[in-house]
Amino acid sequence: MIAIGIEGTAHTAGVGVFSKERGVLSNEMSSYVPPKGGIHPREAANHHVDALAPLVQKAMEKAGISWNEVDVVAFSQGPGLGPCLRTAATAARALALSRSLPIIGVNHCIAHLEIGRAVTGCRDPALLYASGGNTQVIAFSNGRYRVFGETLDIGMGNMLDKFGRALGLSFPCGRELEALASKGKNLLDMPYSVKGMDVAFSGMLTAALELVKKHPVEDVAFTIQETAFAMLTEVTERAMAHVGKPEVLLGGGVVQNKRLQGMVKAMCDERGAAMWVPPGPLCADNGAMIACTGLLMHESGVRMRIEDTVVNQSFRTDQVDVTWR
Ligand code: ATP
Ligand code: FE2
Repeated sequence: MIAIGIEGTAHTAGVGVFSKERGVLSNEMSSYVPPKGGIHPREAANHHVDALAPLVQKAMEKAGISWNEVDVVAFSQGPGLGPCLRTAATAARALALSRSLPIIGVNHCIAHLEIGRAVTGCRDPALLYASGGNTQVIAFSNGRYRVFGETLDIGMGNMLDKFGRALGLSFPCGRELEALASKGKNLLDMPYSVKGMDVAFSGMLTAALELVKKHPVEDVAFTIQETAFAMLTEVTERAMAHVGKPEVLLGGGVVQNKRLQGMVKAMCDERGAAMWVPPGPLCADNGAMIACTGLLMHESGVRMRIEDTVVNQSFRTDQVDVTWR
């Protein structure tokens, strides 16, 4: 069984091919980088319009398969930016209709978890998902993926990017900030916002923008990372304890950060738990994870008509009936 998956929730257009028997066969992507400032949804969508057809072709070539071998077309149905989602959905509908293939809309957050289960050794992990737009701790319980904690305002990556842009770093700024933070030594005063199982980042951003006026930027970057990552580690640990999961899977672009990985790993070691991190391109937004999840759904009997493929910008993780577990 083989699926082709189309991702387009935010600034990355991605197309991947996933085989049940052979895993990821290809995973092509192209990201919209704004000339300056933040991401404009319509401009990102225009990028996807140009990028998707060549990406489909490249992904099929790299996978080395013919269209006869494809069983299902999957796409990211949400959550995400409306114009981007609609572009990916339109591409998926065109493909499915022209090739007479079934189509399946996939929840993007769940796809981060399923690709991790497919390519790492984890079986039933709590997922710490930290990307630009999303920050959630998710775990499977009673037939659904449940959100145990999440950001109450902006995503973790979004906060880092906003701070980085104020410093004049190039977008996305996470990697450069990580390098700066590794040179910082002094932990400054910064709001630590954990509310129950949820976190908040905008107060931290405001504080950081004030702190750089008086302190070395390396120390501020160091402080942001130490504070925000400690918050994420705390809520992840609490979710693991709550649902009794001895495994953590990391997902989303931010988890490529080595300091975050180190902190979560230390927490896991103390609990006798395991931490799993998929390879970089499978952590970030990508088409292979959409293909992988679409295939699981299809095999479990999920079917969608074209009318069911309307995108959902605020598609919740716990809205999906998990028929494949
Ligand atoms: P989503 O649509 O799921 O919100 P996204 O469009 O933000 O995803 P991702 O590739 O998952 O895409 O994540 C990108 C984010 O990851 C950016 O905010 C970027 O700054 C951040 N990031 C990338 N590398 C690092 C790093 N080493 N440390 C911290 N953050 C990083
Ligand atoms: Fe994502």
